[in-house]
Amino acid sequence: MEIKADARKYQEIECDALVIGVFEGESVTEGLLAELDHQSAGAIGSLFETGEFTGKSGESAYLVGASGLKARRLLLLGAGKADEADTNLLRKLAGTATRTLRGKKAKSITFLHRTEKNLATDAQAITEGALLSLFEPDKYHTSNKTESLLETLLITAGGAGSEEIARGIERGRIIAEATNFGREVINEPANILTPTELAHRAWGMAKEYGLRIDVIEEQGMKELGMGALLGVSQGSAEPAKLIVLTYTPEQESNETIAIVGKAVTFDTGGISIKPADGMEKMKYDMAGGATTIATMRAIAQLKPAVKVIGVIPATENMPGGKAQRPGDVVTAMTGKTIEVINTDAEGRLILADAVAYARQLGATRIVDLATLTGAVLIALGDVYVAAMGNDQSWIDTVIAAGRKAGEKFWQLPLDKEYREQIKSEIADIKNVGGRKAGTITGAWFIGEFVDDTPWVHLDIAGTAWNESTKPHLAIGPTGICVRTLVTLVCDQSGN
Ligand code: BES
Ligand code: ZN
Ligand code: ZN
Repeated sequence: MEIKADARKYQEIECDALVIGVFEGESVTEGLLAELDHQSAGAIGSLFETGEFTGKSGESAYLVGASGLKARRLLLLGAGKADEADTNLLRKLAGTATRTLRGKKAKSITFLHRTEKNLATDAQAITEGALLSLFEPDKYHTSNKTESLLETLLITAGGAGSEEIARGIERGRIIAEATNFGREVINEPANILTPTELAHRAWGMAKEYGLRIDVIEEQGMKELGMGALLGVSQGSAEPAKLIVLTYTPEQESNETIAIVGKAVTFDTGGISIKPADGMEKMKYDMAGGATTIATMRAIAQLKPAVKVIGVIPATENMPGGKAQRPGDVVTAMTGKTIEVINTDAEGRLILADAVAYARQLGATRIVDLATLTGAVLIALGDVYVAAMGNDQSWIDTVIAAGRKAGEKFWQLPLDKEYREQIKSEIADIKNVGGRKAGTITGAWFIGEFVDDTPWVHLDIAGTAWNESTKPHLAIGPTGICVRTLVTLVCDQSGN
């Protein structure tokens, strides 16, 4: 779908449907609604009169035939309370409109944006919402695939700022397409998306967008002393891969931001095997890694003035004959020894070596992201990503980037007291800390391998998968954190 800025007044634009968000309590006797009422021979007024449409969030009204407009249909969407409006509202409205009108076989849509402030940011949000809404996890359907006839989306602010709008669209498109690329990868079943295939996809992306890529094989991991990563992969017939993507800016950069993403292409739990019920979902245990690859794709196009590396440890967690056992002791790249109490706490093991490697590559700041714990679902549900780290100002920076990008992060405490839970009798540390504060002890474990490099850990186990189709978003992988990480990196470089 092509998305373009349009400088014309909404009445002048010929298209299949004109989309307008309406706040709760707006009056039909003045301003835009009065105009529309007039153009639709009183249809808007009567919708309000009967209470069919009041502007409440979630409401919609689809009008056929308003003779005063060149648009063939009019879609009104409830925008809720005006004082609660933010850019996420625009993402939702644009997404709801796009999905709804796709269902109505529309080819061309116009989104009327009703304010002239922050046009670039708003157009970016509208573009993101529209493109993200069109993703469908139906690659493997051979019939009844969701059809889309959509060709164009025009964004107009009643004639104002079309250059600014165009700038926002460009940025929104890059970010949303990268996110959908990541969602496509996350959605792949584990028989297709092995660590080798993930490396292959990363390689294709890197070649297309001009990033450097290095893939470290198991032999290389051995030479680097990555006993924690190798311990997880040894139970699988599929070889592990450590994927490293590098973006080097044209400008001198004194920081190197490392994004480190967990990519367990399937998590059976290993010998500490998971229950059968719901295990199929564990194909998305590589969401952190796919998100990292997707973020690098957007960065390669946006070209911020800061060096960024993406480090993705990719492996299966399988209970094969060579699998590691509960009680095994492995030595990580830093030399620290780990007692593996539970082979299902594998994410932190592979991240231990990956963050250590990121430091060896010169990372001056680290963000890791992982579907790390079921406990984060209990703590924060599917609404907030949990954020923890060793440097309050870096944590604040990440959370602020999230707020700007329309993704929610909630900081959990990482006080020293929690460190007690991962003390081991046998080795330097153990990989689980008991039932209490599982998300926090998971983070503490990874933190043991970052030393004093400013680091933030994001637990996306609750937010990486959308359990049911919403008006603006399909069921399945959400691509959470791509927007935040791209915003974070661009803000660090000042562009
Ligand atoms: N991949 C899982 C975490 C997960 C759970 C992701 C639910 C998405 C949805 C992770 O590897 C895991 O199994 N964690 C264990 C840790 C425990 C053994 C300390 C968990 O959360 O149960
Ligand atoms: Zn696990
Ligand atoms: Zn896992």
